[in-house]
Amino acid sequence: MISLHKATKRYNSTTVLDGVSISFGDEGVTALIGPNGAGKSTLFGMIGRLITPDAGTVSVDGMDVTKAHSRNLARILAVLRQDNHITARLTVRDLVEFGRFPHSQGRLTLDDRDHIERAIAYLELQPFRDRFLDELSGGQRQRAFIAMVLAQDTKYILLDEPLNNLDLRHMTEIMKLIRRMADGLGKRVVVVLHDINFAATYSDRIVAMRQGRIVADAPASDIMRGPVLREVYDTDVDVRHIDGRPVALYYT
Ligand SMILES: Nc1ncnc2c1ncn2[C@@H]1O[C@H](COP(=O)(O)OP(=O)(O)O)[C@@H](O)[C@H]1O
Ligand SMILES: [Mg+2]
Repeated sequence: MISLHKATKRYNSTTVLDGVSISFGDEGVTALIGPNGAGKSTLFGMIGRLITPDAGTVSVDGMDVTKAHSRNLARILAVLRQDNHITARLTVRDLVEFGRFPHSQGRLTLDDRDHIERAIAYLELQPFRDRFLDELSGGQRQRAFIAMVLAQDTKYILLDEPLNNLDLRHMTEIMKLIRRMADGLGKRVVVVLHDINFAATYSDRIVAMRQGRIVADAPASDIMRGPVLREVYDTDVDVRHIDGRPVALYYT
């Protein structure tokens, strides 16, 4: 279980995370939604120990993340950040290898190689395995980063806006993959999404943030209501039902 208790982050006088208490881990797929600046990436940063809380506590499977050994944390938790500014010239295979670092410390065992190959295959990246990252399309590169996270083979996976740069087909494929990682591999995935229809279709639970606070936390079907979404995003959202499924319309 990932648990935050009254987690707070301030920059100067601005509070960007305001006493957030929440747990993740019971549901297979949780979507984290909310407008730009709501604090979603800050929340992930705190769980992944990139950001130190000013108050409150964050633990993963009972381990206080501020005190945990980074290698121990990296064996149970993987975080794909929103902006992957990798400047080194790496191939897909090099990148996916990084995912094994918490296990191998740089010396790959047969088991590590097996994880790497399976992750590459899972993301259908075999044709690109020897390509440099700057020779890929945005979507292929995004899949390579997800393969790296998958190779890390952690129980918890946090993905910050993994659908960025993806076309319609690849967005759907990544969401199906996330669903399979949860249902088939037993992973606990928390994923930041902007498209609430993807969130509603593929997640078990939706957590909505706004101005550094959790403003809604419920099964997807309960969040897919006009008044709830209007409050989260402060804009007109209409929810219709098509073939029994809620679909949010925000093209006004
Ligand atoms: N290093 C920083 N210094 C000052 N303000 C920051 C810093 N990082 C994030 N913020 C602010 O914190 C708020 C939350 O940011 P973030 O967690 O990235 O939001 P989200 O991911 O939901 O879009 C934003 O208003 C952002 O400008
Ligand atoms: Mg963000």
